[in-house]
Amino acid sequence: MAETMLELKNVEAGYGEFRVLHGINLRVDKGEIVALVGPNGAGKTTTLRTILRMTTLYNGEIRFKGKDIRHLPTHKIVEEGVTMVPEGRGIFNPLTVYENLVAGAYTKKAQEKMDDTLEFVFSLFPRLKERRNQIAGTLSGGEAQMLAIARAIMSRPEVLMFDEPSLGLAPKIVLEVFDTVVKLRDEANMTILIVEQHVKNSLEIADRAYVMEMGQIVLEGEGKALLNDERLKKAYLII
Ligand SMILES: Nc1ncnc2c1ncn2[C@@H]1O[C@H](COP(=O)(O)OP(=O)(O)O)[C@@H](O)[C@H]1O
Ligand SMILES: [Mg+2]
Repeated sequence: MAETMLELKNVEAGYGEFRVLHGINLRVDKGEIVALVGPNGAGKTTTLRTILRMTTLYNGEIRFKGKDIRHLPTHKIVEEGVTMVPEGRGIFNPLTVYENLVAGAYTKKAQEKMDDTLEFVFSLFPRLKERRNQIAGTLSGGEAQMLAIARAIMSRPEVLMFDEPSLGLAPKIVLEVFDTVVKLRDEANMTILIVEQHVKNSLEIADRAYVMEMGQIVLEGEGKALLNDERLKKAYLII
């Protein structure tokens, strides 16, 4: 059986007094793509932020490769091997593509491997290599998303989390983003947890998926099986 990379047990979390997650149980095994879908405001972003310890945790367990990471600060969790491509991308607009990539390799381990990782992300995204000296703020939406993904890879994660990577992108670019996610699993040995609005696309590439509503997991299963689930079809109008 594959190693469990991420495990959340009964996680209750939120922002200060405001509780958002009401007992989340979720697992991501090595080599999987796991999708987390659900309506706006369900708590998907909060779940990813909770894993990186950017929220208030009231209760529950969070483990990375069996290790309790509840008491680590965010940068230590990144060092352990969990990184997120945040919603809205979070790249540094005034810096060049290259400077953004270097900024992503901020842990000691990542710095040591930086030349190799740069070569890898440039092979994954040749356009970024062409544009390495361009100011990030002048990239197209698709290129900026590639840069956000590439920057996250620079920290050499074992688990890469995506928060709505296709938001605001043209349909053709959306497909490229999904292709990239599959490539990262198959060719770069990464384990993926992806939050997406494009429910159909994400269930198609996901090994397993969780459906979240109002801070709770209401449905889980294999991605392809969920695609045919009547409740989900109704809720998300999947054709
Ligand atoms: N920084 C924050 N402070 C307070 N409440 C927040 C914050 N971010 C999100 N929320 C609230 O938490 C709930 C879940 O939000 P979120 O996790 O962003 O949902 P999703 O990503 O599924 O759309 C919403 O009610 C939202 O208003
Ligand atoms: Mg969100």
